[in-house]
Amino acid sequence: MNKKIKVAVIYNEAYPELYQYKTDLKESKLDFVPYFEVDNITPMDEYEDLVNRLKEEGFDAYSLNIVDDFKLLINNLEKEKPDVIFNFVEIYLNDAKLEMNIAGIYEILGIPYTGASPMGLANCQSKVLTKRILSSNKIKTADFFLVNEIQKSYRHKLKYPLIVKPAFEDASVGIENASVVKNYKLLKERIEHVILQYKQPALVEEFIEGRELNVAIIGDINPDVLPISEIDFSEMPEHLANIVSYQAKWDPLNEAYHKTIPICPAPLNDELRIKVEETALAAFKLMGARDYSRVDIRLTKDDEVYVLEVNPNPDLTEGAGFMRSTETAGYTYNQTLVKIVSFALARAGKIMR
Ligand SMILES: Nc1ncnc2c1ncn2[C@@H]1O[C@H](COP(=O)(O)OP(=O)(O)O)[C@@H](O)[C@H]1O
Ligand SMILES: [Mg+2]
Repeated sequence: MNKKIKVAVIYNEAYPELYQYKTDLKESKLDFVPYFEVDNITPMDEYEDLVNRLKEEGFDAYSLNIVDDFKLLINNLEKEKPDVIFNFVEIYLNDAKLEMNIAGIYEILGIPYTGASPMGLANCQSKVLTKRILSSNKIKTADFFLVNEIQKSYRHKLKYPLIVKPAFEDASVGIENASVVKNYKLLKERIEHVILQYKQPALVEEFIEGRELNVAIIGDINPDVLPISEIDFSEMPEHLANIVSYQAKWDPLNEAYHKTIPICPAPLNDELRIKVEETALAAFKLMGARDYSRVDIRLTKDDEVYVLEVNPNPDLTEGAGFMRSTETAGYTYNQTLVKIVSFALARAGKIMR
């Protein structure tokens, strides 16, 4: 019998104990009707589930939380000698900019790993670099200016409303209702808030008022575009902005969480769907995404396609985000995991089973 392929599922949760807090929607006094249930599954539980599924598929799998300690990572890799790494590390020492360096360790050690290379991760990590790469290749992105430090005044030629974001964050960090500003006073306040709170430049963009789409793409040399998902904002109350804010993404006790409802496949006519697919695929390739990725898009009222960002190695939670699209495409969760691992192995010239 052939030896099983060994997969290391590697992630970085520096404070796993923070997840002991449980949300109970029934006990919380909500002044709106919740749409989603909350299952209180921790990321650690999810990685264990993933390991079990890889085992079901015939791999020899284990998980490792590197808890902000790269020496632990290197020692583990030297001891376990995995054939391939399923890379879930997105942050190191609470700094999203260090994500690329962990993939750099895998490169230096010569171990195949899933997802984007350090260069691809670096390109996508900077929202401004992303915009420059895309716009120089005829892909539309919102007009913007960058503020590196607090100034007396901020001169610009953009049209309100604007949205102010931290330049190097991800997962809706720093994106709140107050990020969307309608006048100079609010703009100034928010720029200063972002610079002080997140200790990084503030990116100011024109706000694209229209539909929001997420395009999942899977593959390496010949990637496939999966069924497009739309965030339905139609139930969002007047006082909340039509955005996927931090609260909408992470806080089940917040109304916005229950009013940003994904629809997959998104209702799009063929012409528009093809335009979105082509734009997303071009963005995936230009940015150096690999294996699996999600491109965030907004459509203007006239159905012009604007790319907000490219997310390399997006969240793989079952039934959410990327996995919603693979499931709509007809792949089971296990099949998608196996596909992603197989891309990494194929790059290293290793063929599965
Ligand atoms: N220019 C924009 N116009 C309209 N909405 C935007 C714009 N930029 C960001 N948003 C909203 O904010 C959310 C998060 O922004 P995004 O750039 O995707 O950052 P993140 O890396 O945090 O996901 C988007 O999903 C969208 O709802
Ligand atoms: Mg996004």
